[in-house]
Amino acid sequence: MLGSAGAFREALLQENRRLTVASVTPLRGATRSKYPHPRYAMNRHSEAFDQWIRGRFVELNTTLEEVYFQEEDRQAIEGVGGDEKRALHDEGRELIAEVLQHADLHRSFDDDFDLLGNVGLYMGACERHGITQIGRDARSPLVEASALAMQLGASLDMAPRFVASHFGTHNRVVNGHGRRFTSLRDDDLFFDYNTRSVFLYKRAAESLFRIRPLGLSHEFTLELLTSVRDTLEKILALNKVLFRDLDVDRFFYSVRPYFKPYRVGSQVYRGGNGGDTAAVHVVDLILGLCRANHGFYASMMHEKLPFLVPEDRAQLRACMRHESLFDGFMKQVNEGGSRISLPNLKMFLEICDLYGRVAAQHHDELVNRFIERPSSALPQVRMEHLTTSGPPLSAVLNALERLRDLRLAADRKDIPSRRQDLDRLKALVPKPGG
Ligand code: HEM
Repeated sequence: MLGSAGAFREALLQENRRLTVASVTPLRGATRSKYPHPRYAMNRHSEAFDQWIRGRFVELNTTLEEVYFQEEDRQAIEGVGGDEKRALHDEGRELIAEVLQHADLHRSFDDDFDLLGNVGLYMGACERHGITQIGRDARSPLVEASALAMQLGASLDMAPRFVASHFGTHNRVVNGHGRRFTSLRDDDLFFDYNTRSVFLYKRAAESLFRIRPLGLSHEFTLELLTSVRDTLEKILALNKVLFRDLDVDRFFYSVRPYFKPYRVGSQVYRGGNGGDTAAVHVVDLILGLCRANHGFYASMMHEKLPFLVPEDRAQLRACMRHESLFDGFMKQVNEGGSRISLPNLKMFLEICDLYGRVAAQHHDELVNRFIERPSSALPQVRMEHLTTSGPPLSAVLNALERLRDLRLAADRKDIPSRRQDLDRLKALVPKPGG
């Protein structure tokens, strides 16, 4: 006899079988006129695949997530939802094989990037549901998807997998549907807030880029710095909402697992994560709290390059050539301090303080609440592949902690923290009422 979770699962599976028939059939005949794309035309095979990714694929993933979530061990996904997993694999494979055979590739960056996102979502979902397993397969059994992803990756000069911007800054909405794995509320919430933050970081980065030609003492520099401060305050506020509204279990068990590493051909590529944007590093480097000549930090940026869209890569390279604001102020101090604009310095120090708080919020609140604490309850056997980048969680947490402490200018001797420099600059600013 089925228990209530079993009955629930059976009902979901039946509903999904009904959807299989209803929603797949029309795809076979998809034409451009039935499915207009606002920005550019795809050929009908890519269109059919895109339509499947935005509809049926989301339904299948959502059904599977609902089923796993009812299980006593939510990570025991083996042997559950066999029909849905088969449908996901077979339908996706058939559509991808058509695209591979008929694709009119290399039309524009946007076309190829979108298609890479779609193939990547398919491959990421197959890994999430255990259809492929990096620990078991020496090569990806998704032969057609691997071939298409590698072709696109080579054409775009990027990692041949989906990356964070496929969900964020480059997530085109078609007929009301953006690109998502599931239709779960927490999937939307996480990516919407992440994307809002990324756009705000980009705004802050843009203001910081504009300071160098003006110099540290310009009155417009104060306006640009003020805009950076206001932007960071908005990020702090957004993260508070995410902390409050995101459901811990849903994020941990139903959203995060899609961001695991997977194989393309024989090569394992790490998962895309919300931090794959240049803007955060532009802020780090132009402020000067982190430095590109620090091995730990430089290797992190270097590793990130294939996961960034070209405009982000160009920004990252450009900001490495900038003298940081921190170094600029220190130079003025070492020259006697007479050239320093105190209002500008005061605003810079306010930004450093705020930026440290945003970094601490990411690590001590978001990472702690949504990753560290739920994973501490897991048995050892379930601790594998918890991180998007691949290393064990403890190693990732350690690296995130170092980043937090660089941004906080913490009092640590084992990292090139700017604590002492910060104290020297702070000593120049008169205390309120002093
Ligand atoms: C529920 C919310 C969040 C959680 C649980 C979370 C968790 C994580 C984790 C675990 C990593 C390390 C990934 C790995 O190497 O495996 C990471 C990296 C990163 N995340 Fe988040 N994150 C969240 C929200 C955000 C938001 C809103 C942003 C804003 C853009 C962001 C920006 C970053 C950045 C930039 C990195 C790269 C490391 C760094 O430079 O600090 N995260 N995050």
